[in-house]
Amino acid sequence: MLPSIHTHYPWTCRPLMANAPMADFAGSRLATAVTIAGGVGFIGAAVDMELLSMQLEEATSVLATSHLSTTRPTLPIGVGFLVFAAKVEDAAAVVAHHRPAIILLSCPPAPQDFALWTKAMHVASPKSHIWIQIAGVAAAVEVAQLCSPDALVLQAADAGGHGGLPGAGLVSLVPEARSALDTAGFPDIPIIGAGGISDGRGVAAALACGAEGVLLGTVFLASREVDLSANEYQEAILEAVDGGISTVRATIFDQLPGESIWPAGYDGRALVNTSYKDYQGGVGVEELRRRHADAVTGPDKGFGGERRAAIWAGSGVGLLKEVKAAGDIVQVLREGCKVALDRAYSRL
Ligand SMILES: Cc1cc2nc3c(=O)[nH]c(=O)nc-3n(C[C@H](O)[C@H](O)[C@H](O)COP(=O)(O)O)c2cc1C
Repeated sequence: MLPSIHTHYPWTCRPLMANAPMADFAGSRLATAVTIAGGVGFIGAAVDMELLSMQLEEATSVLATSHLSTTRPTLPIGVGFLVFAAKVEDAAAVVAHHRPAIILLSCPPAPQDFALWTKAMHVASPKSHIWIQIAGVAAAVEVAQLCSPDALVLQAADAGGHGGLPGAGLVSLVPEARSALDTAGFPDIPIIGAGGISDGRGVAAALACGAEGVLLGTVFLASREVDLSANEYQEAILEAVDGGISTVRATIFDQLPGESIWPAGYDGRALVNTSYKDYQGGVGVEELRRRHADAVTGPDKGFGGERRAAIWAGSGVGLLKEVKAAGDIVQVLREGCKVALDRAYSRL
């Protein structure tokens, strides 16, 4: 038997649940609420390392007043970096100072960048664990060989926000990746399943497929602690039903504010909005940008009215009906997973 992943994160409850490091959305409020509820709270970073540092300061002081010890070698909080966007030396400086328990790396221009970052993060904070998020089976094996990460986050095509394209659903991706990693000599690298999980049934499915835990983004967009620049974002999330129809993966969303900053090989899943429909209808990118620029100057930041701004969300969005405290979301998912597994077992 391999040691349980919980050994490394002793404050966590079973099954292991983490909020995704959603840059601009997952700050210290969300991350600390998830950690305090027995999950792994992640703070997401893009380019602004000062902001990340501030959020880690905040998280440290919130956790200091909780039952959790912040004096162990690492802080019981994760940080996520978008590798293509951040500078490795700036990220390393923040990591060295705050020593997060987990560093999650996503979206490099090339897989070799994961190796460079892993090395730099190990030097900056030797006791921090490295998780790497990828979207394919071959990529999982390649990254295992290149970096020996502490866990691999397998991101299914249903995932909200950005991911490698094309992709597969969790039910095929996770088992195939598990088998491929075992065959390639990496049975001890745990898989964390991500993408489209919005309730306990989804968590149960990921575990049944061989994941040792789950990472969830969209579900926390309906939390009280998520950082949102306008209420209309959350209203749109709660309104959306039939997630496979109401969301779509595309690159056009990244082109709306100007030239896309994303490297080749990535797109993002967001709610189908007026910009997307216009694009499908043949409206040119320049005109879409003009309409987008007008819309985002309003108080709803383009998330209300015609909805021209990108509202990143996964296909699990249709299951979200109300805003809850992040800790309650973790608790409900945990209980729901047990009920789903019991029900499934009773059918055998
Ligand atoms: C609003 C939003 C923002 C995201 N931003 C990031 C990010 O900054 N870095 C990252 O690694 N992943 C990001 N993701 C993707 C998540 O890491 C994760 O793969 C995804 O949320 C899982 O699918 P789900 O949204 O269906 O739960 C984002 C996802 C969402 C919904």
